[in-house]
Amino acid sequence: MAILRRGGLVAFPTETVYGLGADASNPDAVARIYQVKGRPAGHPVIVHIGDIGQLARWARDVPEAATKLATHFWPGPLTLVLRRAPNVDSQLSGGQDTIGLRVPGHPVALQLLREFGGGIAAPSANRFGRISPTTAEHVRSDLASEVELILDGGACEIGIESTIVDLSRGRPVLLRPGRIAAGDIAAQLGVAPLARDSAAPRAPGELAAHYAPRQPLRLIASDRWERSVQGSSRGRGVLSFRSAPEGDMSAMWIEGPREPWRYGHDLYANLRALDSSGCDRILVEGPPDTLEWAAIRDRLTRAGSV
Ligand code: TXA
Ligand code: MG
Repeated sequence: MAILRRGGLVAFPTETVYGLGADASNPDAVARIYQVKGRPAGHPVIVHIGDIGQLARWARDVPEAATKLATHFWPGPLTLVLRRAPNVDSQLSGGQDTIGLRVPGHPVALQLLREFGGGIAAPSANRFGRISPTTAEHVRSDLASEVELILDGGACEIGIESTIVDLSRGRPVLLRPGRIAAGDIAAQLGVAPLARDSAAPRAPGELAAHYAPRQPLRLIASDRWERSVQGSSRGRGVLSFRSAPEGDMSAMWIEGPREPWRYGHDLYANLRALDSSGCDRILVEGPPDTLEWAAIRDRLTRAGSV
């Protein structure tokens, strides 16, 4: 707590990924987040709050849809983009007139927020453009020297970042898919969120190359897998739904879970393991083209577009 109050950085677990937290009301502390992540200014960060009652401190003209979604899904893996309240540091929203808010569903995060009392600005605790951390060890290996404290809450339950819904422009827009799916939003609002479009606010999660490992990653459709991944090569790292063929020499071969929630839970840890396996390229078998794999396909597609 003292660290946050004096403008320091605290990495903490959430149910999605680890966050790199700073006092959202302290512009110098928020500036340090950008510096440590190597994140360009102009990319907004999410302000984490302890309960729905704090919405009014950060957002104005909160629509009924936001109250509905927050009441139903918070604490949980949903970020709402709302119109920014006056007096809120515009640095938090990269200069836009909106603000991203979320009550995370992890007990350690909630305790931190409740003891701190204010909002905690926190992007994922990785360097800009790299894979989000889902364990305290991942944060340590990325940012240890620059963070005052890393709270260890074990492996993140969900493993991919929160769903982001923009409610600042009338019709809800799904800016980033996540565990909470478009259909879950529609069920609460009675109207389906629009897909993001060119008028949507900028978000690094929307950049093509994001969440990327160091080694080039190729996403290969399942029905082309046999043809594309023939023979054996020491140079490749593989994440597939199949097991490694007899005598395979790949630097590493990971058989991914067939259940999307488990696959998401392991995804970033698996990509990190492949990345440091000594391979020179990563081959990933594309997941099924169904709605329940949408958020994972989104992350894999971005990881691949380098
Ligand atoms: O699950 C998560 O959301 C994690 C945990 C730590 O809460 N946080 C996270 O933060 O993924 P970050 O900064 O890596 O990604 C936040 C995304 C970015 O794509 C950012 O542009 C978008 O949220 N975002 C935040 N505020 C926004 C705003 N006002 N308008 C549009 N997008 C916003
Ligand atoms: Mg991130």
